[in-house]
Amino acid sequence: MAAPNIEAIVGLAKRRGFVFPSSEVYGGLGSSWDYGPLGVELCNNVKRAWWRAMVYNRDDIEGLDSSIILNRLVWKHSGHEDTFSDPLVDCRDCKTRLRADKLESPAGQPGAPESEVAELIRAKRIKCPNCGSTDLTEPRPFNLMFRTTLGAASEADDPAALAYLRPETAQGIFINYLNVQQSMRRKLPFGVAQIGKSFRNEVTPGNFIFRTREFEQMEMEYFVRPGEDEQSHQEWIDFFVAWYGSLGLSPANLRLYEQPREELAHYAKRTVDILYRFFPEREDEAKQWDELMGIANRTDFDLRAHSKNPADAEGKRFNPDSTEDLSYFDEAAKERFYPYVIEPAAGVNRSVLAFLMDAYTERTTEKGETRVVLKLHPELAPIKAAVLPLAKNKPEIVGMAKAIKRSLQPVLRAVYDDTGGIGKLYARQDEVGTPFCVTVDHQSLEDEAVTVRDRDTWGQERVKVSDLHEHLRGRLGLGNQC
Ligand code: GAP
Repeated sequence: MAAPNIEAIVGLAKRRGFVFPSSEVYGGLGSSWDYGPLGVELCNNVKRAWWRAMVYNRDDIEGLDSSIILNRLVWKHSGHEDTFSDPLVDCRDCKTRLRADKLESPAGQPGAPESEVAELIRAKRIKCPNCGSTDLTEPRPFNLMFRTTLGAASEADDPAALAYLRPETAQGIFINYLNVQQSMRRKLPFGVAQIGKSFRNEVTPGNFIFRTREFEQMEMEYFVRPGEDEQSHQEWIDFFVAWYGSLGLSPANLRLYEQPREELAHYAKRTVDILYRFFPEREDEAKQWDELMGIANRTDFDLRAHSKNPADAEGKRFNPDSTEDLSYFDEAAKERFYPYVIEPAAGVNRSVLAFLMDAYTERTTEKGETRVVLKLHPELAPIKAAVLPLAKNKPEIVGMAKAIKRSLQPVLRAVYDDTGGIGKLYARQDEVGTPFCVTVDHQSLEDEAVTVRDRDTWGQERVKVSDLHEHLRGRLGLGNQC
């Protein structure tokens, strides 16, 4: 079972401290969300699992943390200033702003080519999804990059001070390609991984944390010899399907989408998206799926674009601003070339949403009450163990429970809770995905043992306090990564 819809997660997320609407005391800010005490743990666990899979568990990938604000020329030569835009359409009646590529044609299909959408709008054959009017403007490009100005003295419209908040983390990797390759003495193939915030002034953000204007990305650029790109691309597609599966996403809720030629970004030779069933409530099965991550073959576009050397037949440089050449010299083959890049690019927030939706289950108690149990993978669970005293008015039991919590904390994320009866405390931990509850009772004072309760089976087991660390670590299946 998974969540029946995103709404089921929105309520749970707020009630249990995962995600709050941002700026709520001032009426909120559209499509902005803040991560609460459990949300920040979940995000960190997702990022840590990704970083481990990329940087620690492999020998061919380095990490990087580049700036959010880069030299404007980066975005000029990457193509973002000219092409990083969505086709914008306004409804003249209700003033809603719409994305032309998401508008449904009369046949009920979104994604028609822009020229076709313009034609259909002129013929008044497309309706505003908000008010049903056919009085729509023609599509026009709207650049998604957030603009800002640098320096205390700069005027708001001073072109010399213009800068952007990065819309992807990838460009920070390309402009550091040579730094990483040379400082770490890397030979092809090798990759550079980065996690960080990106910003896009989305025309139609929404669906909770699925599409927001500020979000976090986990991107890895894998540099290969031209000719080895297609096989590497396929390997990374397979790798990430397996990675999401290993962290608990059901294969039935994942599928691949091969982007057709007309959808490809300006830099891509081939892109395959991993889709997740984010909208299971939709009647039309095809509309239940949306992008979880993309895996693109960016060819040598970016390294060439940021290099000083390539020139046209008359010797005119394509990039007169760059001071470096980002080509690679293969010592063995005595050959110089621009590496191709395979890019697996995932969203932290979208991954968190998918993990939450997939983990959502409901279970009925013997008394006929329905409980939510969040069956998060132990590695992702915000809390690994909750230590609960059976009687909070017994100082010896409370003292023992607090001491157990303190002893567990260096080994794994543990909490102490005595704010309700034991049934309520179990229910609360089930709802936030805590794999184990450790209960201290009267007998514990006699036999130095506690009850360990399993979130998924509700089964209970008596464990000696002296064996508790090993017992939990074993059952959580964790190494040194809590
Ligand atoms: N460097 C390539 C790149 O940025 P993308 O498909 O535009 O590719 C990669 O973004 C991933 O980042 C997406 O698959 C999605 O998970 C996440 N993402 C993109 N825009 C987002 C947004 N507005 N809100 C939340 N996540 C977003």
